[in-house]
Amino acid sequence: MANRILAVDDNAVNLKVVSATLLHAGYQVFTAQNGAEALRVIEQVWPEVIILDVDMPEMDGYEVCRRLRANPKTSHIPVMILTVHDTLEEKVKGFEAGADDYLTKPFQPAELQARIKVLLRRKFLESGVSGPQQGKVISVYSLRGGVGVTTLATNLATGLAQIWQKQVALVDLNLTMGQSALMLNLALRNTWSDLAKIPVEEIDTEVITAVMLHHESKVDVLASPRDISDSQMVTADIADRVLGILKTSYPYVVVDLPHDVSEPTLAALDLTDEIVAIFAPDIASVRAMVGALELFGKLGIPDDKVRVALNWTFERKGLARKDIERVLKRPVQWIIPFAAETIVSAINLGTPPVLSAPTSPMGMLFEDFAYAVSTVEDQEKRENQPSEALLRARERERVRRQGDQP
Ligand SMILES: Nc1ncnc2c1ncn2[C@@H]1O[C@H](COP(=O)(O)OP(=O)(O)O)[C@@H](O)[C@H]1O
Ligand SMILES: [Mg+2]
Repeated sequence: MANRILAVDDNAVNLKVVSATLLHAGYQVFTAQNGAEALRVIEQVWPEVIILDVDMPEMDGYEVCRRLRANPKTSHIPVMILTVHDTLEEKVKGFEAGADDYLTKPFQPAELQARIKVLLRRKFLESGVSGPQQGKVISVYSLRGGVGVTTLATNLATGLAQIWQKQVALVDLNLTMGQSALMLNLALRNTWSDLAKIPVEEIDTEVITAVMLHHESKVDVLASPRDISDSQMVTADIADRVLGILKTSYPYVVVDLPHDVSEPTLAALDLTDEIVAIFAPDIASVRAMVGALELFGKLGIPDDKVRVALNWTFERKGLARKDIERVLKRPVQWIIPFAAETIVSAINLGTPPVLSAPTSPMGMLFEDFAYAVSTVEDQEKRENQPSEALLRARERERVRRQGDQP
């Protein structure tokens, strides 16, 4: 995946030199000409490394660096100071402002490239990701619409990103009017349409990265086309290729599946490691769930790859859990209570409860759900610096286990 780098310099020529060096090394480069612009661009593209010039009018590089460090959303982004000042005092000032590296101008292109590589690798090691990986694909599915597929997919993706502090992909395969990007309040700058216009064999990590929308929570969204007439362009081949690539670039890929058995849906199910099948407690939804379970059987998907979640999208007069379980011939593993206020206001605000209110009942439930669909390796790993979300989920798990004991 082409890493995103932001270069900040008020001198246009210097900026060109740095950009060219980085582009040549295969990075995706963004630029800003002053501190204020840099802070704005960062919020849009969430770069993985930032290169800062020191002498800039109004806000100098040290000040930009201090602000980045003071903000929890940006404090982890590696910063390199690139300046003509080569005295020890200046270097110390840079590191005191929170920089990770310091390079003086003029620089050798090879040295800049090598240092960027080190910064990225260090970041990778810290996030626990190393080398080519096979991420876990989690798909949320229902043959009936309106039962909470998108709500759950968005909360699982953000929950996973919060818990593991890793980049998570959220793929909206609802090609007509998908809502995933909307739920995260992301402008539809690029969508599946942009990928569908490229010959399949030319789709690679770089192209996909460029098309994904970056959310501040570390969730990258592959959004549904703006134009419904584009929905037909996304074939099973394209879906298969894109998901296959995402699986090697992200530790977690969450798919918001449409309510159908179209070719792209089947391609996605085929690549999926774990399916969360969701339904509401009414007859039509239960029938849709029976249909989905039959489909999984026909596709040869083993039962233990499927988790069943019952979502109370309405308040009263739902079918009883035990009757539902008798019809489904399997247990319901998760129950999401009716919470219109929390969920609707979350949609209007564009922030899922797991992010905006992680310690509310709904936030905790989605956090636990995200922890439950995490890989066993992640669950068993002892993190040096566990996130707040991970600590909370583990503590609740411990309490539940104690409660289970006789
Ligand atoms: N637990 C819940 N309580 C109340 N309303 C819910 C709940 N889950 C989902 N909803 C509402 O149901 C509607 C459909 O949810 P959505 O996630 O878009 O479903 P789908 O993707 O399956 O069509 C949304 O308006 C959402 O606000
Ligand atoms: Mg939906």
